[in-house]
Amino acid sequence: MPNITDSKCVLVIGATSGIGRALALAIHDLPSKPTVIAAGRRQERLDELAKSSDRLKPLKFDVNGDRDALKRSVDDAIAKFPNLDAVLFVSGIQHIFDFKKPDEVDLDKLETELNTNYTSIVRMTRFFIPHFLKLGAEGRPSFLVTVTSGLAIIPGPWVPNYCATKAALHSFSLSLSLQLKDTNIKVMEVFPPLVESELHDHQGTTPKLAKFWLPLDEFTKQAMEGLKRGDVEIPVGSALGQWNKFEKGKLEASAQALALLSASAQ
Ligand SMILES: NC(=O)c1ccc[n+]([C@@H]2O[C@H](COP(=O)([O-])OP(=O)(O)OC[C@H]3O[C@@H](n4cnc5c(N)ncnc54)[C@H](OP(=O)(O)O)[C@@H]3O)[C@@H](O)[C@H]2O)c1
Repeated sequence: MPNITDSKCVLVIGATSGIGRALALAIHDLPSKPTVIAAGRRQERLDELAKSSDRLKPLKFDVNGDRDALKRSVDDAIAKFPNLDAVLFVSGIQHIFDFKKPDEVDLDKLETELNTNYTSIVRMTRFFIPHFLKLGAEGRPSFLVTVTSGLAIIPGPWVPNYCATKAALHSFSLSLSLQLKDTNIKVMEVFPPLVESELHDHQGTTPKLAKFWLPLDEFTKQAMEGLKRGDVEIPVGSALGQWNKFEKGKLEASAQALALLSASAQ
């Protein structure tokens, strides 16, 4: 089963803090010694990471550019790192919205959340796949890894748009893994539970959440086990119970629908 230890050059988009930074470091430490490209907007954080190893490369990257800018960023990354064979889409933001107070729902913030957490990832997937298909033609595996959430399975009503973006990304990840199953491109999805990170800092809820979030080290250990096994779906911590109750069997059901459609076309 192809898995992350087969990768020679991994791009982690959203590696300046929290989950992305921890996964970038854990992948860097694999015995397979891949090159890890740490991407995000905060240059000083990228530089700090890159100082620690020659195999950690900084890449300033904003997923919220327009479509052409994002395509240029992807093309530049591939041109600079032609060996690139794995991308982890970890970048994400979260906003609280209360639709009981519609005047306070800032649609600019809401649409930026949608673009950051979903649209940009679909666009980047579209832009990375031609390179990965070329690697596949040379017999090399490649990996697209999305990071959704337990909130993709059970929505948290205080962050309604965030949950919808993660549910959309989850659905897209399942379809993508099935569409690409006969290629050398493997799709994997990590579902974090509430995890220690900077995601909630701007909401002022971090002190409250810190009482029951999963420590980052423990999250990283469990997520890496799934990535090393090559699991298509990797629910971590409390997300596993949610996945077992509401998601188990969905991938297989989706595969059956695809098989039925293919058979009826013959
Ligand atoms: N922590 C949790 O409880 C939890 C639970 C479930 C899912 N998740 C998901 O896990 C992922 C990582 O979140 P985290 O908890 O580690 O939060 P975090 O510490 O706030 O990290 C978010 C990362 O996303 C990057 N990012 C945000 N906007 C970006 C943009 N426009 N372009 C490029 N990079 C951007 C940030 O980098 P820059 O700001 O430097 O660009 C940062 O590296 C997210 O997708 C989040 O939704 C988190």
